[in-house]
Amino acid sequence: MKVTVVGAGAVGASCAEYIAMKDFASEVVLVDIKENFAEGKAMDLMQTASLNGFDTKITGSTNDYSKTAGSEVAVITSGIPRKPGMTREELIGINAGIVKEVAGNIIKHSPNAIIIVVSNPMDTMTYLAHKSLGLPKHRIIGMGGALDSARFKYRLAEALGCPQSDIDGMVIGGHSDTGMIPLTRLATRNSVPVSKFISEDRLNEVKEATKVGGATLTKMLGTSAWYAPGAAVASMVHAIATDSKKMFPCSCLLEGEYGLNDIAIGVPAIIGANGIEEIVEIELNDAEMDNLKESAAAVSKTNGLLQA
Ligand code: NAI
Repeated sequence: MKVTVVGAGAVGASCAEYIAMKDFASEVVLVDIKENFAEGKAMDLMQTASLNGFDTKITGSTNDYSKTAGSEVAVITSGIPRKPGMTREELIGINAGIVKEVAGNIIKHSPNAIIIVVSNPMDTMTYLAHKSLGLPKHRIIGMGGALDSARFKYRLAEALGCPQSDIDGMVIGGHSDTGMIPLTRLATRNSVPVSKFISEDRLNEVKEATKVGGATLTKMLGTSAWYAPGAAVASMVHAIATDSKKMFPCSCLLEGEYGLNDIAIGVPAIIGANGIEEIVEIELNDAEMDNLKESAAAVSKTNGLLQA
C-alpha cells in the first residue's frame, strides 16, 4: 500500500514513523511546502530502517504531488498547530485554506484515495474536505476520537492503577476541549464497569483531564503533541490497509445518524478497506445525547466560519 502524508511536521513525521514501524505499507510519501523539509525527514527516517527492522520506503517531496500518485490512503496534517492558551478553533483562518488546497491536490493525483484529516479544527476541516471534494462519505475520515480515547484510557489506567491493556473506553463528540464526551458509563476494566473501582468524583476528574488532554500537553511542550496523534493515525491507516474492521471513534459525515445532519463529528465507526465501513449507532442515555447535541452545535458554529 502507498500512503501519502501531507505535512512533514511533528504529527506527519510521527505518523510516517509509526506506519513504517508497523511494516505494512510499501511506501510512505511525505509532502511539505517547506523546501527540502519532507525530503530531510524522509531521509532521517529511512536511516532508522536497518535499526528498527522495516522495509517500508519513505520518500519526501517539496509540494510535488506527482510523487504521491496512486496513493491508497492520504493523511492531511498540514497547517499550524496551536500554541499554549489557544483553542483548536482559532486555527481555522489559516488551516482552512491549506486543507482545501491540499485535499484538491491529493485527489488530482490519487483519485481513489481514502483521506484522513488531522489538521485542526479537525471536525470542521473534515467537513470542509467533504464539501470541497464531494467524495462518497466513507472516503473522508477525521482523526480525533482515536487519540482522545487513547488519552482517556491512559487517564483511567492511571486512576485505577492498572495496565492500559485492561481498559476499554471511548470518547465521542467534537475534537475540542469542551466538545469531547468521554463515555465514562461504558468504560470497563476487563468488562467490569470502571465505576466499580473508583469513586464518581475521581471518574469526573478523569473525564475532565481527558477533555483538556491536548491543552495540558500544549502547555508543557509549547506546541501540540505528536507521538500519540501520530500513533492514532497510523492505527487507522493500518486498519484500512489490513481491512481489519477495527472500530474507532472518528469524525464522520452524518446523515441522520444520532439525529444529526450535515456535520462531521466523532462517533464510533468500523474502519476497513473502504474507509468508513459502518457508522455504529450506540445507545446513549439522555445526558450523553444532550452532550452530543451541544457538542454538535459548537462544531456547526465553527463550520459556519468557513463561509465567513
Ligand atoms: P507542525 O507545524 O509541526 O507541522 C505542520 C507542517 O505543515 C509544517 O511542516 C508546514 O510546513 C506544513 N505545511 C503548511 N502548509 C502546507 C501546505 N500548504 N502544504 C504542505 N505542507 C504544509 O504541526 P503539527 O504539530 O504536526 O500539527 C499539524 C496539524 O495537526 C495542526 O493543525 C494541529 O493542530 C493538528 N493536530 C491534530 C490532532 C488531532 O487529533 N486531530 C492532534 C495533533 C495535532
